Amino acid sequence: MKLAILSRALGSYSTQRLRTAALDRGHQVKVLNTLRFGIDLAGDEPDLQFRGKPISHYDAILPRIGNSITYFGTAVVRQFEQMDVYTPNTSNGIANSRDKLRASQILSRHEIGMPGTTFVRDKADVIPAIERVGGAPVVIKLLEGTQGIGVILAPDIKVAEAIVETLHSTKQNVLIQRFVKESRGRDIRALVVGDRVVAAMRRVAQGDEFRSNVHRGGSVEAVELSPEFEKAAVRSAQIMGLRVAGVDMLEGDSGPLVMEVNSSPGLEGIERATNLDIAGSIIDYIDNQVAFPEIDVRQRLTVSTGYGVAEIVVQSGSELVGRTLGESGLRERDITALTLQRATNVIPNPHSRYVLEDGDRMLCFGKLEEMRSMIPARRRKRTRVRKLPKAPIHDA
Ligand SMILES: Nc1ncnc2c1ncn2[C@@H]1O[C@H](COP(=O)(O)OP(=O)(O)O)[C@@H](O)[C@H]1O
Ligand SMILES: [Mg+2]
Repeated sequence: MKLAILSRALGSYSTQRLRTAALDRGHQVKVLNTLRFGIDLAGDEPDLQFRGKPISHYDAILPRIGNSITYFGTAVVRQFEQMDVYTPNTSNGIANSRDKLRASQILSRHEIGMPGTTFVRDKADVIPAIERVGGAPVVIKLLEGTQGIGVILAPDIKVAEAIVETLHSTKQNVLIQRFVKESRGRDIRALVVGDRVVAAMRRVAQGDEFRSNVHRGGSVEAVELSPEFEKAAVRSAQIMGLRVAGVDMLEGDSGPLVMEVNSSPGLEGIERATNLDIAGSIIDYIDNQVAFPEIDVRQRLTVSTGYGVAEIVVQSGSELVGRTLGESGLRERDITALTLQRATNVIPNPHSRYVLEDGDRMLCFGKLEEMRSMIPARRRKRTRVRKLPKAPIHDA
């Protein structure tokens, strides 16, 4: 394949290892400085320039977009997506994972363990928010920090409040998060490639530091992950739309607590700690997937008038409970179940023999009118446009 690695750090360990791994496997590979692209929307088709010239054809890209250029970098990745070039990490995935709040919001509906987190803006809401996550000591985080910078442990509630207010006054958005004491300055970094964890390490903070980042002096050792941790890591990466990701987890009393999902995980620490050829497994994975460029499924499936995708929930008391998918009547109503989610398991292309249970969620494609009645009432949107009130503004 012909691969472009999008990176500004040509000489870095990770970029060099990825490039070498691709060359060793007989691929054509170029490292292209992300900031030298030009997005070209003037012609008939989406196009890209590189260093002012039209770019040649690539089969795949591997984006390594640094934090400081998220906006431009994800725009370049999005343009490759529009040109049907395969990328293991989508522009949406990169943008969503970069912001710690946005990532937590997306993960929160998928039964992924996470440290209790709140986000408030008004001064009056700060102390109640700290109390909601268990009081002091409490962790305060900038939304887009990396390498441990912007992660603070506030020892008591007054100090915490003062830190949050100070940051707010400088227009910074901050998360307030439960301090996971039981992890004792340690965390787990799992490297996910495709649908498996290819390597994992534990990072241990130095001395009385609570942040285990290598940049904060943390030390690393290889670990064998339990299936519970592996599953949390793989699911988090997949939910975020990342096929190559570093998933950071704390070891909570009741299992893994996902803190963040990194879309450009560094390879040096983890390859040295585990002695595994992670760069090679990333290249092999891309080589395997090149035939499947990213498709915006929802957008493509809604081009036929009246058809679309919807999530149908099997509610308790519904006549669907206990019936098989075949007996559910969905097919007869021109509705196809694409996936069936039961608790944390997702069954692709569910067979007609599956017996439906209370709480099952089916991702369906079909006639919107037919599906409307099967969507829980509280999620239904008002469709009719109501008349404006005669006197729209009331005096108090
Ligand atoms: N809620 C928490 N409880 C305990 N330790 C934490 C918590 N959040 C972060 N840490 C420690 O701080 C480190 C950095 O936090 P993280 O959210 O990963 O920010 P960064 O993006 O800067 O790495 C983590 O690796 C972990 O060791
Ligand atoms: Mg981190």
